[in-house]
Amino acid sequence: MEFQNLLITNQDRIQYITINRESKLNALNKATLAELHTAFFDAFNNPAVGGIILTGAGAKAFVAGADISEFADLAVDGGTALARNNQIEVFDQIANGSKPVLAAINGFALGGGLELAMACHIRVAAETAKMGTPEVTLGLIPGYGGTQRLPQLVGKGKALEMILTGDMINAADALYYGLVTHVVAPDALLEKAEELMKKILLRAPLALAAAIRSVNSGFNDGVNGFETEIEEFGKCFGTEDFKEGVAAFLGKRKAEFKGK
Ligand code: COA
Repeated sequence: MEFQNLLITNQDRIQYITINRESKLNALNKATLAELHTAFFDAFNNPAVGGIILTGAGAKAFVAGADISEFADLAVDGGTALARNNQIEVFDQIANGSKPVLAAINGFALGGGLELAMACHIRVAAETAKMGTPEVTLGLIPGYGGTQRLPQLVGKGKALEMILTGDMINAADALYYGLVTHVVAPDALLEKAEELMKKILLRAPLALAAAIRSVNSGFNDGVNGFETEIEEFGKCFGTEDFKEGVAAFLGKRKAEFKGK
């Protein structure tokens, strides 16, 4: 599929998805969200892809939020449908993905942009990045999972401070609060993202998927995460990768995983 708002490349099993609406600070309009759904569906189903690095085009923004120009005519039903559909089709799709997704936050990550980064499994940021949830300045609240994922990452108190003030935090503070796990110079951002992803891609793919499912399950209402972990742990013993991992350890050699 041809994308109008995304750039997609693949190297060494890493799929790079770059949101490419630089003149609008990569704001998430309807078309971009639809393309993101397709791009992630493709990446999760393409055997040539081991993991995904998501970033924004240009030096200024990762994503400066949902496209506010598309909000003007919405009423209650439209707003509810917007949040529900995009949560399922894009944000939950990424969070529940079977392959690791890493957000490389290269600039502003605001509103839906921060929510997009938070749907990813890991976040690294450039020193120049700024993050926030300014929705209350528009008379809104975060609608793409932000009221749930922000407290999970930074704790309820800091999340409520960010959501209620609408203030941005800088990359150093984001690191301090655990919103991102690494902060580097802007020109070292992709290198850092690749370093992490390349290490992850040396590991057993089915175990990575099981780990994501197991960690996520603890945040799903009504699901016993410990029980999910037990089941996922058990299933790992039925994989060829497990046999390879143990044989490689005992044979004092590097494991070569096949994702089977
Ligand atoms: N939706 C739609 N367009 C957006 C946008 C958004 N969330 N964020 C930025 N843009 C557009 C601007 O309208 C502008 O377009 P124009 O050149 O056609 O007028 C362009 O991107 C550049 O943004 P601009 O505001 O001129 O850049 P700036 O450097 O002065 O300010 C920000 C940068 C990020 C502080 C500012 O763009 C901003 O506050 N954006 C909205 C953030 C937000 O509230 N996001 C949550 C949405 S729910």
